Amino acid sequence: MAKLHVSTTINGEPQEFLCDADQSMLDVLRGPLGLTGSKEGCGSGDCGACSITLDGRLVCSCLMLAAEAEGRQIGTIEGMAGEELHPLQTKFLEMAALQCGICTPGVLMAAKSLLERNPDPTEHEVRFWLAGNLCRCTGYDKIVRAVMETAADMRGGAR
Ligand code: FES
Ligand code: FES
Repeated sequence: MAKLHVSTTINGEPQEFLCDADQSMLDVLRGPLGLTGSKEGCGSGDCGACSITLDGRLVCSCLMLAAEAEGRQIGTIEGMAGEELHPLQTKFLEMAALQCGICTPGVLMAAKSLLERNPDPTEHEVRFWLAGNLCRCTGYDKIVRAVMETAADMRGGAR
């Protein structure tokens, strides 16, 4: 099958790649592009470990065709930190809101997406937003507390 040529932007940088018509974005990220931060937990849209953003919207990269990246803006966990870690990353480390870490890139991408839309979420809203990110290790409480505390810190300690 002839390969498709895709021109896209990943974490603010222009990027080109070849892919099969039925190849997932996750496959291309983790394979030819070498961006292995996005994880494959299920490959079927159930676990959220592969979460990325597509034009600013959170998506499961295992369910997205790589060809759909043409002309779009892709954000991955590799682009989350600038010169310093993102406050969510720092807080997850401080509060040990991870164990094996397989779910963590997806959780962080989802949490960042939430705080961009809602800088003052309730615990219920955090849990609801992260319901698509499965974690087999932490029991979720540390994750939720880390997101709540990051939100408070980013608002200037208002809570
Ligand atoms: S690997 Fe994509 S949702 Fe699980
Ligand atoms: S830290 Fe292991 S799956 Fe979440």
